[in-house]
Amino acid sequence: MVNIPAGDYKYVLNENFSPEFNGQELSYFNTDNIKKVLDFQKKHELYTNTPLESLPDLAEYLNIADIKVKDESHRFGLNAFKVMGGIYAIAKYLADQLGRDIESLSFQELQSPAVREEIGNITFITATDGNHGRGVAWAARVLGQQSVIYMPKGSLPSRLEAVRDEGAHAEITDYNYDETVRMTAGLAEENGWVMVQDTAWEGYDQIPLWIVQGYAAIAHEIIQELEEKNAEPPTHIFLQAGVGSFAAAIAAYFKQYYKENAPTFLIVEPDQADCYYQSFSSVNGDMEIVTGDMATIMAGLACGEPNPRAFRILSQYATAAFSCSDRVSALGMRILGNPLNSDPRIISGESGAVPLGLLYHLRAGSEEDCAAINLDENARVLTINTEGDTDRQHYLDMVWEGFY
Ligand SMILES: Cc1ncc(COP(=O)(O)O)c(C=O)c1O
Repeated sequence: MVNIPAGDYKYVLNENFSPEFNGQELSYFNTDNIKKVLDFQKKHELYTNTPLESLPDLAEYLNIADIKVKDESHRFGLNAFKVMGGIYAIAKYLADQLGRDIESLSFQELQSPAVREEIGNITFITATDGNHGRGVAWAARVLGQQSVIYMPKGSLPSRLEAVRDEGAHAEITDYNYDETVRMTAGLAEENGWVMVQDTAWEGYDQIPLWIVQGYAAIAHEIIQELEEKNAEPPTHIFLQAGVGSFAAAIAAYFKQYYKENAPTFLIVEPDQADCYYQSFSSVNGDMEIVTGDMATIMAGLACGEPNPRAFRILSQYATAAFSCSDRVSALGMRILGNPLNSDPRIISGESGAVPLGLLYHLRAGSEEDCAAINLDENARVLTINTEGDTDRQHYLDMVWEGFY
């Protein structure tokens, strides 16, 4: 194995970690609730369960028992997991406007002239690195409504085009992600548009909760598939975090399902936007915010302010937070794209690959760090490839040209 340069990641154990099962927060994510969410998502004709790949040769190489990667690059043809939140949140909003239970509604009915007449034209607005915006734009379109999408400065023109291609009015702002969120919230208020944000704040929590429930359906799919195949559940799940909604969704679902036998949850962030790492490092583990440009290739994770609900969940159930350089992500992309022997090839983008890159760094690099999180030869690791090559040129720069 290669020598891993020191300083490519740092980590902190979460001193507030508690394995106690907190029924109240987790009740939003109980199996019945999330099964209903997935039942709705499944009604779309493009729904398929994304592949849960096994990488036995890499597991053997890294001397651990198992590696599984859930590959969200196959989600609804959108190359990322994000639409699972937007589609559920927008449909749930429309269902509430109609005074109907979402279980009784189909996509056809939601698009029908009768529904349009009853609730009128609605504009959904959001701030996004690209993946969420593409998901919201897609969901608004397939549900017969409009969307307006703002992206933080530095967003790549190719990602902007991908959002516009879904029929949205989309622009890149001069602000970072968190500032763009505030700007969009102001526009929503001024224009009577509906904000569909993948993070929450005081007084704005309902739609973000639906989004997190939408993501939790991914965990439901994973557990169902493991059980159908009589496969053992993971012992460790590495979860990449921007605002932490995705990580909290997966952790909350696994926690309510396996309770005290739940896996170890490990948060993975870019070192330029490591708000969970900073929070776990702070006195009392209080929520900390990262500001500035947050320049990282992991655009989806470049968020400095945690979602408070996600923070409550993760600061109880996550064991540690890892803060990683861009090199860790690039390495993950190269490993997944160039598998060993008969392992499947997985096309993974910057925000999708960082957990796998970190796993490699840990097993190849530091016995001491592995020991701190019990990542030994018995570990069964799950990571989720949250995006494919959402920026094709960047992907080639990294994997062919060896950038980072
Ligand atoms: C590809 C990808 N992975 C992970 C995340 C992280 O999600 P969250 O912001 O909920 O932590 C994002 C967010 O945009 C993303 O686009």
